[in-house]
Amino acid sequence: MKTIIEPFRIKSVEPIRFTTKEERLKILKDAGYNSFLIHADDVLIDLLTDSGTSAMSASQWAGVMEGDESYAGSRSFYKFEASVKKITGHEFIIPTHQGRAAEKILFTVLGGKGKFIPNNTHFDTTRANVEFSGAEAVDLLNEIGKQPEVRADFKGNMDVEKLEKFIGEVGKENIPLVMITITNNSGGGQPVSMQNIKDVRAVCDKYKLPLFLDACRFAENAFLLRKRKKVLKKNQF
Ligand SMILES: Cc1ncc(COP(=O)(O)O)c(C=O)c1O
Repeated sequence: MKTIIEPFRIKSVEPIRFTTKEERLKILKDAGYNSFLIHADDVLIDLLTDSGTSAMSASQWAGVMEGDESYAGSRSFYKFEASVKKITGHEFIIPTHQGRAAEKILFTVLGGKGKFIPNNTHFDTTRANVEFSGAEAVDLLNEIGKQPEVRADFKGNMDVEKLEKFIGEVGKENIPLVMITITNNSGGGQPVSMQNIKDVRAVCDKYKLPLFLDACRFAENAFLLRKRKKVLKKNQF
């Protein structure tokens, strides 16, 4: 569908504060140029994240009202569990309140000094949790993904050759898992092709390494694969 306006109505508005250039320069200086130390109230357009910064749909609000907050056995949990199982096919689902909390649990168990975690590009919270555990976060992004001025379909792809070389260099026993972040958010939300995911999977299988997806934008990744399907054979995505 193509429309000249956004095909939805925004039903609530929230005032935002305008600042002058001088104020913004002072805010930046006072924060030591660390965007994480800037108060959100001082930000007019938030380019640091899109998570939780936009309007919720009518269905999402309705979902909040229908939510079951029971201390145990909550209906909402079973609904959530069934959806995640349907999408991932995994038997066991452990809910966490945020991605960074899941990363903290994962790398507390699997990270640690002397370990290496390859990824196409680590998201900032992922890198922080890997490094906090003492492990090393290694980005193995395809060269084209590092060139913002170049237009290409799958700039989030991992460099599969580099991955295999890296496993040879540090030893598979020092790599508890390989990650792919879809979409590659720290690299501009660029998509990863299905073929690339399969190629990384094949390398992981060869060395018997588990492959973890940071699937935070898996739906957007799937959308972009469909949009760019001109370069894909039917059903390849
Ligand atoms: C790729 C990726 N991984 C992890 C996270 C962390 O998730 P959360 O903000 O829920 O802690 C984000 C958040 O935007 C993300 O984009």
